[in-house]
Amino acid sequence: MDLKDTLALLHPAIAIAFVFPLIGIVINRSWLTRQRRLQATNGEKSKIPPSVGSEHLAIGYWLSGSVVGVALLGMAFPIFSKMIERDILTKEPSRVAFVVILFIASTASMVFLYRATSKLWRGIFATLSGVGLIILGAQPEVFRRDKEWFFSHYYYGIAAALLMIFSMAIVQDIYQDRKNRWRTVHILLNIFATILFLGQSMTGARDLLSIPYSWQASYLSKCDFTNKTCPQIGTVK
Ligand code: HEM
Ligand code: HEM
Repeated sequence: MDLKDTLALLHPAIAIAFVFPLIGIVINRSWLTRQRRLQATNGEKSKIPPSVGSEHLAIGYWLSGSVVGVALLGMAFPIFSKMIERDILTKEPSRVAFVVILFIASTASMVFLYRATSKLWRGIFATLSGVGLIILGAQPEVFRRDKEWFFSHYYYGIAAALLMIFSMAIVQDIYQDRKNRWRTVHILLNIFATILFLGQSMTGARDLLSIPYSWQASYLSKCDFTNKTCPQIGTVK
C-alpha cells in the first residue's frame, strides 16, 4: 500500500480502535451513574459503586479529547494532501500558514481547556477550540457534502466534537446545580451525540468505500457518477 493510502487509514483506524471503545465505556458508566443517583433519591440501597460518576467523568475527558483529535486528523489528511497535490503552498502561502496556525491553536486551546479551572477560562478555551474546528472545516479542501448535510460525515463529526467540548465546559455546572437542570441538558445533548456517533460509524464506512486506492483514482475519475457506470476496460483512453 502506498504511503498516501496508509496515511488516509490513520483516521478511521484510530476512531475504530480507540474512540468507539471509549464511547461504549462512557455510555455504560453514564447509565450506572444515573441508576445509582435515582436509587439514592428513592432511598434505596444501591449495589452500584459510588466511583461510577467519577469514572464516567475521567473517561469522558479522554473521549472529548480523542473525538476532537480524530476530527482534526480527519480534516488534516484531506487538507494537506490536496494542498500538496494542487501546489497551494506556492499559490496561497498565507492560507497554508493560517491553516497550520489554526491546527496548533485548536490543539493548544483543548490542552488549556483541560487545565483551566475557572468557568470563564473554560468557556473561552471551549469557544476557541470550537471556532478552530469550524474554520478548519470551512477550508475548500474538506469534503463537506453540503447538499446532503443530513447524512454528512463532516457535519456529524463537527457537531459531535462541539458537543464533547461543551460537555467539558459545563462539568462544574452539572455538579453545582442542585435542581439538576445542567444534568438534564447534558443528558439530552449527549443522547444526540450518541446518535451522531452511530451516524459517524455509518457515514465513515460509506466514505471509506467511496475512496479508491490512490493508484486506482485516475481510472475511477472516468466513471459517470450520475448514471453509476464506468467505462469498460479496453474502451478507456
Ligand atoms: C456519549 C457521551 C455521554 C453520555 C451519553 C453521557 C450521559 C450522562 C448521563 C446519563 C449522566 C448521568 C446523569 C444522572 O445522574 O442522571 C451523566 C453524568 C455526567 N456526565 Fe456525562 N455523558 C457523556 C459524556 C460526557 C463527557 C464527555 C463529560 C465531560 C468531559 C461528561 C460529564 C458528566 C458529569 C460531570 C456527570 C455527573 C457525574 C456524577 O454525577 O458524578 N459526560 N452523563
Ligand atoms: C467519532 C468518530 C469520528 C469523527 C469525529 C470523525 C470526524 C471526521 C471529520 C471531521 C472528517 C473530515 C471531513 C470529511 O472529509 O468528511 C473525517 C473524514 C473522514 N472520516 Fe471520520 N470521523 C469519525 C469516525 C470515522 C470512522 C469510524 C470512519 C471509517 C470507518 C471514518 C472515515 C473517514 C473518512 C474515509 C474520511 C475522509 C478522509 C478524506 O477525505 O480523505 N471516520 N472524519
